[in-house]
Amino acid sequence: MSTRPAAVVVLAAGEGTRMKSATPKVLHDICGRSLVGHVLAAARELEPERLVVVVGHARERVAAHLAEVDPQARTAVQQEQNGTGHAVRTGLAELDGPLAGTVVVVCGDTPLLTGETLRELARTHEADGNAVTVLTAEVPDATGYGRIVRDPASGAVTAIVEHKDASAEQRAVREINSGVFAFDGVLLAEALGRVRTDNSQGEEYLTDVLGILREAGHRVGASVAADHREIAGINNRVQLAEAREVLNARLLERAMLDGVTVVDPRSTWVDVSVSFERDVVLWPGTQLLGATRVGEGAEVGPNTRLRDTVVGAGARVDNAVAERAEVGAGASVGPYTYLRPGTRLGRAAKAGSFVEMKNAAVGEGTKVPHLSYVGDATIGDFTNIGAASVFVNYDGQDKHHTTVGSHCRTGADNMLVAPVTIGDGAYTAAGSVITKDVPAGSLAVARGQQRNIEGWVARKRPGSAAAKAAESAAREAGGES
Ligand code: UD1
Ligand code: MG
Repeated sequence: MSTRPAAVVVLAAGEGTRMKSATPKVLHDICGRSLVGHVLAAARELEPERLVVVVGHARERVAAHLAEVDPQARTAVQQEQNGTGHAVRTGLAELDGPLAGTVVVVCGDTPLLTGETLRELARTHEADGNAVTVLTAEVPDATGYGRIVRDPASGAVTAIVEHKDASAEQRAVREINSGVFAFDGVLLAEALGRVRTDNSQGEEYLTDVLGILREAGHRVGASVAADHREIAGINNRVQLAEAREVLNARLLERAMLDGVTVVDPRSTWVDVSVSFERDVVLWPGTQLLGATRVGEGAEVGPNTRLRDTVVGAGARVDNAVAERAEVGAGASVGPYTYLRPGTRLGRAAKAGSFVEMKNAAVGEGTKVPHLSYVGDATIGDFTNIGAASVFVNYDGQDKHHTTVGSHCRTGADNMLVAPVTIGDGAYTAAGSVITKDVPAGSLAVARGQQRNIEGWVARKRPGSAAAKAAESAAREAGGES
């Protein structure tokens, strides 16, 4: 039992006008994946022999996206959207030969559908020896959906009636057609040839296949989804937000059950591709996107956005934004820090407050604690970069690299003008503009000499508050001696 389906057909030719968007509906994103991407991920769990996506509206864009997220998927072009029955016919025509075995049909706009539910549908379908099995659900509001009509005596499914074609009595039914089906491939192809268009929308309804098969004496069944939210189709941005919330809650729940503390699940957002180790703590207002990975015992947030970023075990990231960065084990980031692509903080390193980094490798235990920019740089281990320093990497034309060795102490308010190298163990004086290489172990001083002009205030600002303060300071100094 539970063989691989012969095919999965994904319907994604519709325009999705209610999204009011320049982007085709199925390409809208929730939790780091397109709507159709979510459907494909669930469908792939069935390991079908073939998978075809029926495209139509904006087909170049949709096909290009499919080639990226699921290169094995075939596409079939439905020139005109003449209904779901016509769409499935178009999909089947793209696949070679008659399809003996199970054919599963899903819509491209149901991102919450799980592989588990699809497997359950296929299992029921094959175990019961059905010609067709429809995935249904009881919903609070069935408006717009096709209604499941059952025989009052036996409870067997007899037909699906579209909302627009339904009687008042049928509209009272809350069990709806999810748009997901398992079919016998051969019977499906036959029945599709007999679907008519004499309905309120003048379309070939896939749902009519049920009545056709039943009348021909075949078994028609239903599999009721455990959670009706799973089959929700996205038609507008309100539903898009609702689906995102449900999926996010699902992802966080899985993380929590795996040992992650999520302090405020409502303000914490994660993508499907994010991974965690145990004892991670996520503080409120945290967004983890793309291929972000968070190591054991690390704490992230509050108010932090990480994209494609790796956070090492025990690291602390507070009020920060990072993209394509690596934060070493036990390292500390923030508060108020921006790590741009190519930043690699070593073990126990620090990128402190109001610090921006880009394309910078920062060694173990090295600290950049305050108000600095580090761009295009390599810094060794256990070095301290003074407050308010800038790695001056851009001459208006080209970017240049700065290298700072290990165990260095650069003074506060330094400009390190690249390309420049500071050797191991070297110091630089506060306020220096370093334009020449500093040999290992030396102190570089690159600033104007201080000159004190005595009595300048008394001469140039007589009677001023400053002059009076200077006078009393002189009196006190005189009295003391
Ligand atoms: C359809 C079902 C309805 C079910 C509902 C679930 C039919 C006739 N009705 O209604 O019983 O309750 O889905 O959401 O099947 N599509 C194509 N080509 C077409 C028409 C549609 O690819 O010519 C695709 C759409 O892009 C979409 C899916 O099929 O992904 C469903 O089409 P849609 O127009 O949304 O069907 P509903 O009217 O919602
Ligand atoms: Mg419709």
